[in-house]
Amino acid sequence: MSHADDHEGTRRDFLYYATAGTAAVATGAAVWPLVNQMNPSADVRALSSIRVDISEVAEGSQLTVKWLGKPVFIRHRSAEDIAHAEETPVEELPDQNARNENIDANAEATDANRTLDEEGKWLVMMGVCTHLGCVPLGNGAGEYHGWYCPCHGSHYDAAGRIRKGPAPRNLPVPVAEFVDETTIKLG
Ligand code: FES
Repeated sequence: MSHADDHEGTRRDFLYYATAGTAAVATGAAVWPLVNQMNPSADVRALSSIRVDISEVAEGSQLTVKWLGKPVFIRHRSAEDIAHAEETPVEELPDQNARNENIDANAEATDANRTLDEEGKWLVMMGVCTHLGCVPLGNGAGEYHGWYCPCHGSHYDAAGRIRKGPAPRNLPVPVAEFVDETTIKLG
């Protein structure tokens, strides 16, 4: 195929879409199959939601999974973790918003509003520092028994809430739910 033919092919494709787009104005329903093809495929959509087996995550440890190109921390909190997180009054927090996509956007950053289950054993959050995006160190790191970001010294507590340092917000809790006792679905 010559370069000129190639160019012509591209142009024809463009005209095809442009015509289909015009038709959409007149007959919206008829153009649906084309629009549908332009939506993400089932494969791509499936990638935006993953299921994580947490059956092997021991109490007091953390599983880090990659989701949508970013780390997600899944922490199985110990009684000590929970006690640390619960004893902090919300008024003392630099960011008093729960930052939890599963509840009201204005909810307070209480420990209960951050965790995934009633008992507060499971904490799921994005492992990306809200300052400039480093991945904080976990397992009780930092001055508040939670996570510590060594890039510029941000300390997060056992509920992933910012307590000290330049990070402005709590680590965000993404859309997540238990689909059975040992599986968490992200997204
Ligand atoms: S990126 Fe975490 S403190 Fe700066």
